[in-house]
Amino acid sequence: MKLLVTGGCGFIGSNFIRHVLATHAADRVVNLDKLTYAGNPANLADLANDSRYTFVQGDVCDAQVVRDVIRGVDAVVNFAAESHVDRSLMEPDAFLRTDVFGVFALLEAVKELKIARFLHISTDEVYGSVERGSSRESDPVRPSNPYSASKAGGDLLALAYWHTHRVPVLITRSSNNFGPHQYPEKVIPLFVTNALDDKPLPLYGDGRNVRDWLYVLDNCAAVDLVLRKGEAGEIYNIGGGNEVENVALTRAILGLLGKPETFITPVADRPGHDRRYALDSGKVHGLGWRPAYPFAAALEATVEWYRTQEAWWKPIKSGAFKAYYEKQYPRR
Ligand code: NAD
Ligand code: TYD
Repeated sequence: MKLLVTGGCGFIGSNFIRHVLATHAADRVVNLDKLTYAGNPANLADLANDSRYTFVQGDVCDAQVVRDVIRGVDAVVNFAAESHVDRSLMEPDAFLRTDVFGVFALLEAVKELKIARFLHISTDEVYGSVERGSSRESDPVRPSNPYSASKAGGDLLALAYWHTHRVPVLITRSSNNFGPHQYPEKVIPLFVTNALDDKPLPLYGDGRNVRDWLYVLDNCAAVDLVLRKGEAGEIYNIGGGNEVENVALTRAILGLLGKPETFITPVADRPGHDRRYALDSGKVHGLGWRPAYPFAAALEATVEWYRTQEAWWKPIKSGAFKAYYEKQYPRR
């Protein structure tokens, strides 16, 4: 199978490309990535000499570029997105552009060139905060911040192209991922690297918000399965089944690093902060997927990765990230 993967230089996309080439020897991958602040070619440096892998720098919103790279592929997997809630509160424009208009440009090209499959990567955040129970694929979307609203917009457009044009769309909505190569603005890599630097860990609000953590390699396996075995027009939730309050997660990270709990610094809450996300993943279980990595072991391996990969995250945290973090400082 020849795949176009978009956003492949980011966190999940890079893990996914490595997963595909490791598990399907005959596959080839073209990676279209704009290289925003979150895109890092170093995430795939190990594939530099793999003839099955090609990198193209470009924007998913650029219809011509998209048509050129899509021609001749068997399937498209769209990871490209602006992905950080806090940034969407400050600069929502880029979110609407990439997460809605980018999906539109891809859908148009998939329709025109009659590509056999378009897997769009979405998120549990489109369901909004879920105080009790868990979200099913048939539930309405109730996004509550500009990030999740733009992702919901992309999802709805994709489903509309299935409904009206029979463009073979599939959607995955996963819970919070963690693992190697995650940009250190997201809570786990931020807190691990801050702790390694003996810096405060800014915990929002009362620290009791709940996220369901999914190890990135488990998500990659699920996405790959949906790509090959899923039904067009369908949505698949992918949850890790590991609901953890932020304060417990923070303590676990500090415990693994042998750092004191005095590093925890309560700060003002994120505006509109969703309390809890939770997914019913019965449908993807029905395809045969289950998470393979126990949460505690995966968290330990992740912490260890950041502990030993300072050469990856130190340049990020001392570069463009610094300006972003300082802009956030009044709240932190
Ligand atoms: P990321 O921010 O680490 O990476 C995004 C990648 O997309 C970067 O390489 C960036 O350069 C690229 N990109 C951004 N705008 C682009 C554009 N206009 N054209 C081409 N490339 C562009 O994100 P991630 O955490 O790897 O998330 C990947 C996808 O998974 C996103 O769609 C996100 O909404 C979804 N998702 C993420 C999580 C999570 O916990 N990280 C959970 C559920 C769903
Ligand atoms: P994040 O990693 O930004 O993912 P999302 O908002 O998409 O779930 O945040 C995960 C949780 O951690 C969320 O409840 C917000 C919280 N958080 C903090 O308490 N402090 C921080 O500095 C960050 C970035 C997040």
